[in-house]
Amino acid sequence: MARVAPIYDGIGRAYARHRRPDPRIAAQIERALGDVSTLVDVGAGTGSYEPADKSVVAVEPSVVMASQRDAGAAPVVRAVAESLPFPDASFDAALAVFTIHHWSDVVGGLREMARVARVVAVLTFDPVAHSDFWLFRDYVPEANALASNLVLPPEAVAEVIGAQRVEPVMIPSDCVDGFNWAFWRRPEEYLAPEVRACMSGLALLPDDLVAKRMDRLRADIAGGTWHARHGHLLHQDVIDGGLRLVVRQ
Ligand SMILES: C[S@@+](CC[C@H](N)C(=O)[O-])C[C@H]1O[C@@H](n2cnc3c(N)ncnc32)[C@H](O)[C@@H]1O
Repeated sequence: MARVAPIYDGIGRAYARHRRPDPRIAAQIERALGDVSTLVDVGAGTGSYEPADKSVVAVEPSVVMASQRDAGAAPVVRAVAESLPFPDASFDAALAVFTIHHWSDVVGGLREMARVARVVAVLTFDPVAHSDFWLFRDYVPEANALASNLVLPPEAVAEVIGAQRVEPVMIPSDCVDGFNWAFWRRPEEYLAPEVRACMSGLALLPDDLVAKRMDRLRADIAGGTWHARHGHLLHQDVIDGGLRLVVRQ
């Protein structure tokens, strides 16, 4: 735990402000979970996608993240996915959202989820589709190099947990959860350091490097280059940015 908590203890300070649950993504997760009563949310952070109508236990190693949970949020156990402190089949369902790319042993953590629950839902991303993003391609290719080392493809996640399906999760143009693809149609949002600080793909890179690239993005927006290259996106309401929901029911 000592190895993982410091990352989010460092970059997670403004998380609750910019990483709020998007209702459309939340609805898809809740449909996938189905009619379960008890749930463990692994890598729970501030508890964004925890269903209000279920009995939830959150697992979170970072004190900074856990401290941003609402007063009425589910109780937190300070632990890591790789070693869940629960007996076999303790919960109806286990959920992991935007977290497996941070785990030191992804396969071990996924096996732990499958051990403690019958239904397992993992929101992750397809590294190939995810990397095909104008922000990474044109401005911060270093973010892709970082992600490709960390991500287990959704099909491999499905194999480990014995999932029946992998669902694409579309990203709306007005997505309210500020993860890295969220502002695919609102490029000016990436110019705010506090917004970027909540996207691990950018926050883990050197500040001065990202700041220089964002200066270029600022100039491209002001000068019309961004619109000339990517203006077609302004006619789209949703996009496939590689988000995938892997579900075992
Ligand atoms: C991007 S946040 C996602 C939080 C939340 N699930 C959400 O959707 O907003 C990733 C979280 O994973 C946690 N984390 C990192 N390594 C972990 C591990 N090995 N086991 C469990 N959680 C971990 C981090 O501390 C952080 O809170």
